[in-house]
Parts: sequence; C-alpha cells; structure tokens
Amino acid sequence: KILILDFGSQVTQLIARRIREAHVLSEVHPCDVSDDWIRQYAADGNLKGVILSGSHASVYEDTTDKAPQAVFELDVPVLGICYGMQTMAHQLGGKVEGGHKREFGSASVRARGHTKLLDGIADFTTSEGHGMLDVWMSHGDKVTELPPGFKLMASTDSCPIAGMADEARRFYAVQFHPEVTHTKQGRAILERFVTGICGARPDWVMRDHVAEAVEAIRKQVGDEEVILGLSGGVDSSVAAALIHRAIGDQLTCVFVDHGLLRLNEGDMVMDMFAGKLHAKVIRVDASEAFLGKLAGVSEPEAKRKIIGREFVEVFKAEAARLKAGLDGTHKGAKWLAQGTIYPDVIESGGAKSKKAVTIKSHHNVGGLPEQLGLKLLEPLRDLFKDEVRELGVALGLPPEMVYRHPFPGPGLGVRILGEVKKEYADLLRRADAIFIEELRNHIDAETGKSWYELTSQAFTVFLPVKSVGVMGDGRTYDYVVALRAVQTSDFMTADWAELPYALLKKVSGRIINEVRGINRVTYDVSSKPPATIEWE
Ligand code: XMP
Repeated sequence: KILILDFGSQVTQLIARRIREAHVLSEVHPCDVSDDWIRQYAADGNLKGVILSGSHASVYEDTTDKAPQAVFELDVPVLGICYGMQTMAHQLGGKVEGGHKREFGSASVRARGHTKLLDGIADFTTSEGHGMLDVWMSHGDKVTELPPGFKLMASTDSCPIAGMADEARRFYAVQFHPEVTHTKQGRAILERFVTGICGARPDWVMRDHVAEAVEAIRKQVGDEEVILGLSGGVDSSVAAALIHRAIGDQLTCVFVDHGLLRLNEGDMVMDMFAGKLHAKVIRVDASEAFLGKLAGVSEPEAKRKIIGREFVEVFKAEAARLKAGLDGTHKGAKWLAQGTIYPDVIESGGAKSKKAVTIKSHHNVGGLPEQLGLKLLEPLRDLFKDEVRELGVALGLPPEMVYRHPFPGPGLGVRILGEVKKEYADLLRRADAIFIEELRNHIDAETGKSWYELTSQAFTVFLPVKSVGVMGDGRTYDYVVALRAVQTSDFMTADWAELPYALLKKVSGRIINEVRGINRVTYDVSSKPPATIEWE
C-alpha cells in the first residue's frame, strides 16, 4: 500500500482518488504522526511508498509541519507534492525561500535530465527533445537550492526548481499538483510513481474498499449503537448499507417521511432496507406535521426554513428516544452517522461560507451531533460521488437506486410553487412518476442509453394556476405542470436537455389523460444561470 501524509491541502483526497483509479490501495494519515508510528506502520513490509501532500502553510512559518524524519529512512520511494516538495528539500538539506508573490494557475513545465518519474510522459516534446507538461501550480514558497544528492527534474519560467529527484534513494518531488485534472498528465505521473517506481500491485478494486471500510467502522464504533437519518438519496442509502454490513443491528435508521416524497418512495425505501437488507428502520410519518406547518406559507425561503427546522425537530425527537434507549431493544445510541461525501467536506470547509449571497438555503443537519451529544460517524467522507455509487453497487444496492438523480432535501416542497397542499403534492407525484417512467423507457438510438441516463436531473414542477382546456365534449379548467430536465456535470451550471419531441409528446399525452386535475404540460427551456435547476 501507499501512505499519503496529509499536510492539510484541500486536494489531498484527490491524491488518494487518483491512486484508487490506478487500482492501488492507499491510506491518508495526518502528517504529524511520530517516527515510531511510521516505523511500526512499515514493519509488516506492505508499505511500498510514501506521498507527502501539499498544504496551505509555508515551510518557514513557525506553525509549519514537517514529515516524520523516519519517512526518509524506510528505504521506500517518497514523492513530495508542492509543500511536500518544500518540506522534503528543507528536511534533507536544501533551501526553500518565501516567494514574493503566489503563483496560482496553469503553468508550462519543462522536464529536465532523465528521470524514471517523468521520462516519456509529456503533453508534447520540443524540437530539442524536452518533454513539456501543462500543469497546475499553487504556491508561494519555492525550493531555491537542491538538497545534496538531488538533481533537477523540472522547471518553469518562474520556478527554476519545479521538480527534483534523488534516484539512488528513490526520492522525487514536484512543485506542481499532479492530482488535479488541470495537470493533464497528472494521473499518468502518479500511476508511474505508485506502480512503476514503488512497485505497488494494481489489484485494488472498490470491493476491497467495502472490507476496509467495514473494518474501520467496527474499530471506530466497537459495540456501541448508531443512528442514521435515511432519506432514500444515494449518499445516506450507501452509508446505511455499508454501516449495516459492518455492525448489523447496532445500526438503527430513522426515515422521516415529510409527505413531500416521490410516488411510492417511502415504501421503496422500507422495502429495500427493512425488507431486503433486514436493517432496523424506523419510519416516522410526519407528513401531517409538515403540511400543517407549511399551510398558508408561499415564500420559497420561508418554506425551506420550515421544512429544514421541522426535519431537525422530528429527527431530534426520534434520536433522543433512541439515545435514551427508550424502545427496549436499545442500550442507547452513542453515534450519529451521516452520508457526508468528500465534496460536502470541501464545500462546508471553505468556498461555501465565503459566498456573498444565499441563493437557496440548503437543508442539512449540520450541528446536530453536538446538540444531541452524539459522536459523528461519516464513513463516506473521503469518497467522491461516482465512487460512492460504485461502492453502493459493490454493496449490492440496485443500480436504479444508486444511479438515481439527486432529489433535494425539501423534496416536493420546492417543486410545488407557492403554498404546499396535499392535493397538489398528490397530483405532482403522479405526473412526475409518468415523466420519469418515460425517460427510463426512451432509449436514444445513437448512444443506446435511456434519456434518464442522458440527463443529470429531471422532474416535474407543479404550477398552482389553472388554464382552460377541452376534453371530449367538455371544458376543463385545471392545473399546469412544467417538465424540467437538465444536463450538467457539477450542478453549478446546467443546460436544459434537448429531449426528443416524441418523448415530450408521450409524456404530455399520458399526464393529461391519466392525471385528472392537470390539463396542460409545458417544458422548461431555461438554463442555469440565470435560472436555477429547481424552481424555488
Ligand atoms: P439549484 O436549484 O440551486 O439546485 O440550481 C442545484 C442542485 O441542488 C439541489 N438542491 C438541493 N439539495 N437540499 C438538497 O439536498 C436542498 O435544499 C436543495 N435545493 C436544491 C437541486 O435539486 C439540484 O440538484
């Protein structure tokens, strides 16, 4: 395996991800582990190499971290990245100086000399035979003098020592970030390091992660009990399945039905988790409470706040009961599990809090563990969305569940414009089920994929306005729905999907004929920005 020592960069988990993509097992540990810990860790002979990550800090600030010196005495290859390169240079006798300005963004790196790490990997080769790489740089300090034994491996115009190597000891370092996708050859470089230079076997698969994660959960939780809020979404479902695999009946899932779920969704969740997986699931039917609180409220942010608050109240009451061990079979829960995934960690860490305006207040359960006095268990926190899905499949969850489009926490509450009423929710559920069914049924001839797979998110919106229609010999005066389907990779921007007319025609015909109370269907042709994906 490969050990990644984390110096606190936001992208450390990307290094782990790239290594998983190369099918090699890696573990991330904090950089301040002791020399003894390192020696112990390597003692079984399975450690094939060490990677020192980047950091926000500078080598010469007082608070800075160093790699445990033992890392350089293990006789395994070491790769330093960004700050990892600087601390390697510093600790091995080179020189690092504070830069006058931060370098941040794309750069062009020229490979120097010949090294096992970079030889043959290049975006293009110059007429003099130098490999050139487009890379991503983000640093203030830089190495200005090579440590003894090292040779120059790469340079850029503003950073003469952008890479260094001591091939006898198999120490390599780069100032740029090979783990980010902006560095086009980054994946090849990391793969070269772990499989070529370290000689790690590329035999790791997501199935192995199940075993590793199960082991870690058992170790963390011991014989204590865990509560998890199951929403039916991908992340909480995969977290539930994983934790259940690890600790079985020590896990109790709480599924709050706020009455704003999709058609049959509550039953499907129960069927899957209680029925097939035999997990303990408590279904709390709180729809009356939610609809009661929402009565008369039409402003979107007010609705979101009410739903968020009520959700926390209901969940808290249930969790408090479980914590107290009130329903007999329980000793009293000590843990709250959440399906937090890595992008959530990044989002709550930095970028999000700096955002100037709140476009939509997202509903989440942050802060709950402290309020409840429970410890937090987050077994997916290092994984990216597509990896979570892969893990779900490896755990035996059905692909329809694992590859489901995202569904917002406030559910149909933000898809019924204005005041939420049960009558509206019932109509919307039926119309939406038809839309989704037809998206799944319509296969695109060119790609062989269904339109459900070809869109990132699709749903129906209820418009509480009435329009006139004619049906048979009679006049109708009924509600309108809008179909929404978008394509996006990050949900920050999105294009409306160019669905085939035949599909739209089928959906519209079925909704108007099958859902009495709706007599008009429209298609939303707005992209994000300036529109958002949800209507509220
Ligand atoms: P917007 O409407 O802001 O949505 O373009 C972007 C993505 O976020 C989802 N969304 C939410 N997800 N809680 C969630 O868990 C929420 O309150 C929420 N609001 C929007 C939306 O469905 C889309 O995927």
